Formats: sequence, structure tokens, C-alpha cells
Amino acid sequence: MESTLLEVKNVYYHYTMGKTTVRAVDGVSLTLRQGDALGIVGESGSGKSTLGKMIAGLLLPQRGKIIFAGRQVTGVQREIQYVFQNSTAALNPRLRVETLVEEGLAVENKLSRSERKKKVSATLAAVGLPPEVLDLYPGQLSGGQRQRVALARALAVEPKLLLLDEPVSSLDVTAGARLLALLAQMRKTHRVTFLLISHDLAIVRQVCTHVAVMYAGKIMETGPVTEVFSRPGHYYTRLLLAAHPAPDPAKRLQVEIVGEACDPSHPPTGCRFHPRCRRAEAICRRRPPAGQKLGGGQRAACHFAAK
Ligand SMILES: Nc1ncnc2c1ncn2[C@@H]1O[C@H](COP(=O)(O)OP(=O)(O)OP(=O)(O)O)[C@@H](O)[C@H]1O
Ligand code: SF4
Ligand SMILES: [Mg+2]
Repeated sequence: MESTLLEVKNVYYHYTMGKTTVRAVDGVSLTLRQGDALGIVGESGSGKSTLGKMIAGLLLPQRGKIIFAGRQVTGVQREIQYVFQNSTAALNPRLRVETLVEEGLAVENKLSRSERKKKVSATLAAVGLPPEVLDLYPGQLSGGQRQRVALARALAVEPKLLLLDEPVSSLDVTAGARLLALLAQMRKTHRVTFLLISHDLAIVRQVCTHVAVMYAGKIMETGPVTEVFSRPGHYYTRLLLAAHPAPDPAKRLQVEIVGEACDPSHPPTGCRFHPRCRRAEAICRRRPPAGQKLGGGQRAACHFAAK
């Protein structure tokens, strides 16, 4: 049994904009063991990035706690690296690839200059980039290559946890498929534990061991990918999967469900999914469902959860 690396304990993050409160993350708990690859899926605005930023220490939970390797997360740390959604746009265009990848190592100041250079070259090779890119600037690279540089920057410092926020959404199909194959391989060879945020179910199915389905700031279902994708216990997950049955990642499936997505500043009473759920009964409108264990490590927050 692998040890627990990350525990997210009932965290909340609400954004306040004038008189409006956006309940972006509204009571989320999850655990990640060493070596796991957890996919967080959900429609746009469901709170995935906000949750990711809290785990990375970029935002602090307004309630609840995040425990990483036995210690509470109180800010950014080397051992948790977050590769931003649109990370390629975040690369400083005036720095060469070598400097960009070396930055984290230089801050640490543990290695000599020549050791750092070796490390940078090895990391670039690990993400499938040729040594020629060392002297190039981000603007001289393709989108796929820039995404790999962003990944190399994060990997160079050997994090214990890598958070990838929509890692392939800005890439074309071929570059995306290559990056995913690389991630799957890194998990096996380097034993990197990662958390992958995506609204694309096919990606999660391809590279993750576990999945958490988010809706309107809450987790609807969690469990091993094999269980959740073959026998979903929550109606929202069922709908997501019914809308996208094809396992082929090249199809770049997007989450698309009938009805309006929930407005996180005005969530409905009871189960947040009830206005869109065909199975909804009176209790669903009245009482928020607690997570129910379904066996095999699967859990669903639905009054009528069943495999
Ligand atoms: N800085 C901010 N200020 C105010 N509201 C915000 C801010 N960042 C996010 N939100 C709101 O919080 C909610 C959750 O946003 P978040 O970015 O976490 O969702 P997401 O699941 O990552 O969406 P996407 O798939 O579009 O990236 C949304 O309603 C969003 O509009
Ligand atoms: S709790 Fe009710 S409304 Fe929510 S998903 Fe389950 S059946 Fe549908
Ligand atoms: Mg996001």
C-alpha cells in the first residue's frame, strides 16, 4: 500500500466581486497516494483551477486544510509544481529555454553551474526536446514544444507532486497525444505523482489512475478510473460518460451536457445537480447528498448512488 501524499480536507474558496460571492470551491475533500495520477474533471467554471491553485499553495483555503507529506500547505513550495492552464503564455518571452528551465534550480542554489546545465539538458531530453532548443526563445518554438518547456521547468526541480492544469488544451491533436504519452511514461519510469486538471474525459481515462468529478465547486464522484468509467455511481458522471463514450483521446472530447451549467454564485438547494438531473426526486431538492461508498474505492455524492 502506497503512503498518502496529499490530503485535501473540506476546503472552501469563494471569490467576492462586489455583492456577488462566487462559491468556486465549496467543501472539497480528497486524498492522493504516492504514485497516483488523479484526474479532476468537470465543466468550465466548476472550480478545478481554484482547487489546483490551493493545492499548489498559490491560494490559501478560506476554510479547511491541505496536508502535503504530513505538513500543512501554507504557500508555494518546491515539492509541489503547478503547470498553469495556458502555461505557454506564461513563459517569459525574453528568456532562452535554458534559462527558463534552469530558473527553479538556480533559486535553490544547491547545484553548481555545470551540474545545473547537465540537469537542464537531461530534463529537456526527458520531455522529448532536442538540445538545439536550449538557445531558442519561446517565440521560436511550436505550441507543443513550449508546453514541454513548461513541463521541463516544473520537472527540473524534481517535485513530489506535479499539477497540470489543462496541459493539452492549447495543443493540436498530435502534439497533445505525444504529451500525454510522455506523461503516462513519466509516471511509470520516474514515479511522478500527478494531478491532472481537464474538462476532457478521454485524457483522464488515458493517463490517470484515479478520477474526481467536480460540479459547481463540489466533488460528485471519486474513485479508480477503471471503476468510475466502467460503472459510474453518480448521475452526473453517467451523463458525462454517455455524452462521450469513445475512449479515443484523439477525438478531444469536451464536456457537454444538456441544460445550463450551475451558476456558482447562486447554487441550487440540495443536490447542486438537481435542476439538470432526470432522476431527481423531492429529497434531491431538499437535502445535499453525502458521499456514499460504493466499493472498490469509489464514492458518489448522490441520494441514489449505485453501481
Ligand atoms: N480571480 C477570480 N475572481 C473572481 N471569480 C473567479 C476568479 N477565478 C475564478 N473565478 C470564478 O470561480 C469559478 C471557478 O473558476 P475556476 O477557474 O476554478 O474553474 P475551472 O473549473 O478551472 O474552469 P475552466 O475549465 O474554464 O478552466 C468560476 O465561476 C469563475 O468565474
Ligand atoms: S442526488 Fe438526486 S439530483 Fe443529485 S444526482 Fe443524485 S438523483 Fe440526481
Ligand atoms: Mg481552469
